[in-house]
Amino acid sequence: MSQDTAEGRAVRSSGPLALAVSGRGLIDPDEPVLLADDEGFTRGRAAFETTRVYGGRPFRLGEHIARLERSAASIGLPAPDRSELEHLAALALGHAGVPDATLRLYWSPGAPGGNPVGIAMVGTIPGWIEEVRARGQRLVSLLLPRPSSPWLLPGTKSVSYAVNMAAEAEAKRRGSDDAVFVDADGIVLEGPVTNIWWREGDVLVTPSVDLGILAGETRAALLALAHETGWVVEEGAYPLSRLAAADEAFTSSSVREVVPVVELDGRAFERGPAADELQRALRAVAEG
Ligand SMILES: Cc1ncc(COP(=O)(O)O)c(C=O)c1O
Repeated sequence: MSQDTAEGRAVRSSGPLALAVSGRGLIDPDEPVLLADDEGFTRGRAAFETTRVYGGRPFRLGEHIARLERSAASIGLPAPDRSELEHLAALALGHAGVPDATLRLYWSPGAPGGNPVGIAMVGTIPGWIEEVRARGQRLVSLLLPRPSSPWLLPGTKSVSYAVNMAAEAEAKRRGSDDAVFVDADGIVLEGPVTNIWWREGDVLVTPSVDLGILAGETRAALLALAHETGWVVEEGAYPLSRLAAADEAFTSSSVREVVPVVELDGRAFERGPAADELQRALRAVAEG
């Protein structure tokens, strides 16, 4: 929702809770940030991160910034300034003043000849997440060629997410909540913004990061928690039929955390103990 001002600029009724930008500090979220010829905008050539904030503290911030550094390197951007990003995150979180939130970090190359731009943006946690966690999500499998060459940017979190968003929209068009990508050989990869997991008896299974999928920070946290709580975990390359025949399935991501799957390609899934157990363990470690 927006309203036009006398100067013709839109003032939004909702938006980020707080915004901090390199070289500028805290700014009004309605102020412009990027120049029009920044390749982050014109080419989608910028790196980003999203993490969830628990009790005012961003979960695994150091690891997220490390992944931002790897993404920047693979896109060919200058290395982000870690301490400046941490400072921007602290400024934005302090200003937002809410215990639970999302924190997004962006690292964009800037206009040609200019300086790179770092952005920390704090937002609210979408209300629909708890609703979908409670009822479970319906997934459809969609084809996505595996990023098997370096120039396809395997494991890179760039802002070029139009394909991921189109897949989400296609899943919704088909009456589902979200997609799970499967490569041309039928190997399960990940969701548009999630990692996928399933349970076969006492074994938790998740695709390997060697497939070029994003090394999710929630995935890493859940791997550690699963080992601690006695689950056997297998990582590898698995056909969709393995997921389809699983006893239970769920997705993981920073903002949505653990969300159970109740349907895949029209087939109903039972809810099981692993998703709820890992969600509880994740909350405990993130809030601890
Ligand atoms: C493609 C993709 N896979 C997996 C994830 C989950 O990663 P994380 O747990 O670090 O949020 C994301 C998160 O945005 C993603 O975009």
